[in-house]
Amino acid sequence: MSDTTSDHVLIFDTTLRDGEQSPGATMTHDEKLEIAEMLDDMGVDIIEAGFPIASEGDFAAVSEIARRSKDAVICGLARAKPADIERAWEAVRHAARPRIHTFIGTSPLHRDIPGLSMDEMADVIHDTVTLARNLCDNVQWSPMDATRTEPDYLCRVVEIAIKAGASTINIPDTVGYAVPRESARIIEMLLERVPGADQITFATHCHNDLGMATANALAAVEAGARQIECTINGLGERAGNTALEEVVMALRVRNDALPFKTGVDSTRIIQISRRVAQVSGFAVQFNKAIVGKNAFAHESGIHQDGMLKNRENFEIMRPEDIGLTETNLVMGKHSGRAALRKKLADLGFEISDNQLKDVFVRFKELADRKKEVFDEDLIALMSDGTDAANDRIRVKFLRVICGTEAPQSADLTLTIDGEDHQVTATGDGPVDATFNAIKALFAHEARLQLYQVHAVTEGTDAQATVTVRMEEDGKIVTGQSADTDTVVASAKAYVNALNNLLVRREKGRP
Ligand code: KIV
Ligand code: ZN
Repeated sequence: MSDTTSDHVLIFDTTLRDGEQSPGATMTHDEKLEIAEMLDDMGVDIIEAGFPIASEGDFAAVSEIARRSKDAVICGLARAKPADIERAWEAVRHAARPRIHTFIGTSPLHRDIPGLSMDEMADVIHDTVTLARNLCDNVQWSPMDATRTEPDYLCRVVEIAIKAGASTINIPDTVGYAVPRESARIIEMLLERVPGADQITFATHCHNDLGMATANALAAVEAGARQIECTINGLGERAGNTALEEVVMALRVRNDALPFKTGVDSTRIIQISRRVAQVSGFAVQFNKAIVGKNAFAHESGIHQDGMLKNRENFEIMRPEDIGLTETNLVMGKHSGRAALRKKLADLGFEISDNQLKDVFVRFKELADRKKEVFDEDLIALMSDGTDAANDRIRVKFLRVICGTEAPQSADLTLTIDGEDHQVTATGDGPVDATFNAIKALFAHEARLQLYQVHAVTEGTDAQATVTVRMEEDGKIVTGQSADTDTVVASAKAYVNALNNLLVRREKGRP
């Protein structure tokens, strides 16, 4: 039940549902289980684990996350259709604390899609929330595109959903259209006008199309919402969703102005941020609030001087508050496993013994090539999506000839399903030649949408992180790899994307 006098705000994370819906943000089954466990451990109240009817893969992931859940409520999404709601229940019912989240588009534009009149839609809402409530004690209902729904109709349908048994009413700003004052006003209006509104929890679900998702979510909380829907790194369709790290830290740092608290352990933020960036293939922009590489970097002389005199001059929060710890441990080719594990833990990566074995081998290879291994190098190493045990395609050998004389050529050996295949291909530059060689060895129709190279550190021996995004029949996948040789990193990133595409084809989901 909602108590708008309470200062506790529930955190509802939808990284695995709305976040994963972001084109290209594919996560494997195991990665989803891992992220869900991290969310549960950091104190997230509700985890939206997926959209069970969307595919067999989604169903399996939500069911398994539900089975393994500890304290968090596990939620599955369902459209306003009996088959969706029943499928969502089938998946979440294994959780100690299951929730069904059902939704329908209520704005004029969205009502047009199923071609329902206002009255017909009201009946559908009544029937579907009733069905969900008969299956599960904990039902959340969302009027999709609420911020563009006529206020009177919004009040009417929210009342119907409450009467039918929904205990959480989520107000989505589906297209990121609202401004903070509107976001607050809608919650105030619903609390004032809808009978029974004081008996339920209002949630806010904002998209970031105009860069106001966090401001809108916080405005809704000030107006009486007590659940914020958000994702790690703000991952999500288009410009993404409200970022979990932003609302958690805003409520913490500005508790004087926003007197609310969450149950999230903020010191776990950097670790999960890096892991989500790694598994989704969506790198965090350098200047991203809270978790960007530069969020705590002070470059200008005036700032550095001020920081040395008193950190509070320019720092409103401490790096340790989000789990960033400074260490003096310099890594190089003589560093051992224990030092590597400690360093990775300081950087926010908790790894198993098996993972350590694999990372240590790759660290040694890198340390042989680079004198000093910087924190950024290790982060890039951990973000390298290649060489997973179940990869069907691997880069075994690559030699490129490049320079002023065209055509450039690539001599490539790929191991495909355990067998080696070799080819020499030419192209317009070494990367083009390499990609042509991959296409010759593993024919595919996928279209390259993005090819991006970042230097991880300074210096000519710096590693390059390459991100590749490709699309095939509406399926969008990304691949990432890091290497001191940019062309090798490019080949591995491309192959990583292809491996992800093969997983996606098996899942049969766009
Ligand atoms: O943005 C949106 O409207 C959604 C709903 C499914 C809640 O994600
Ligand atoms: Zn959404």
